[in-house]
Amino acid sequence: MIGTRNRVEVLHGVNLDMLGKRDPQHYGTLTLIELEVRIRHWARALGLETSFFHTNSEGEYVERLHQAPELADALLLNPGAWTHYSYAIRDALELAGTPAVEVHLSDVDSREEWRRRSVISDLVIGRVSGRGPDGYREALETLAARLGVEPPSAA
Ligand code: DQA
Repeated sequence: MIGTRNRVEVLHGVNLDMLGKRDPQHYGTLTLIELEVRIRHWARALGLETSFFHTNSEGEYVERLHQAPELADALLLNPGAWTHYSYAIRDALELAGTPAVEVHLSDVDSREEWRRRSVISDLVIGRVSGRGPDGYREALETLAARLGVEPPSAA
């Protein structure tokens, strides 16, 4: 619908292109493409439009965040390992000023000590961790509520 603020950019970070090959105990068995199909489906049901971006380059991730205010009304981020130490990504997210939710497939709080720290956690409106692919659906619900987007009517 014209004028509706419903665009969500999904930003996959480092090593997420390797889903399907990574430890299934932590990351499940879906490939990134299969995960994106689910995300798009859940988003549509909520009345959200999605776009997707993946890179293994921190600089490219930062540059995409610079473009975020023009590209999207909200962000769904899984920066992978950058979550735990990238102040460059933190600064770029702050600069974007766009509502964002942080998602991790695995339960980062019950793994190695260094994964417990997120340098973006105080900038996001929600965090989901350890819920597998369903965590992305929860994140989308949070963003739809923030944007005031309603599911399309069945009619
Ligand atoms: C991750 C958790 C990070 O600690 C890890 O480095 C990843 C993926 C997750 O989705 O569980 O690459 O963000």
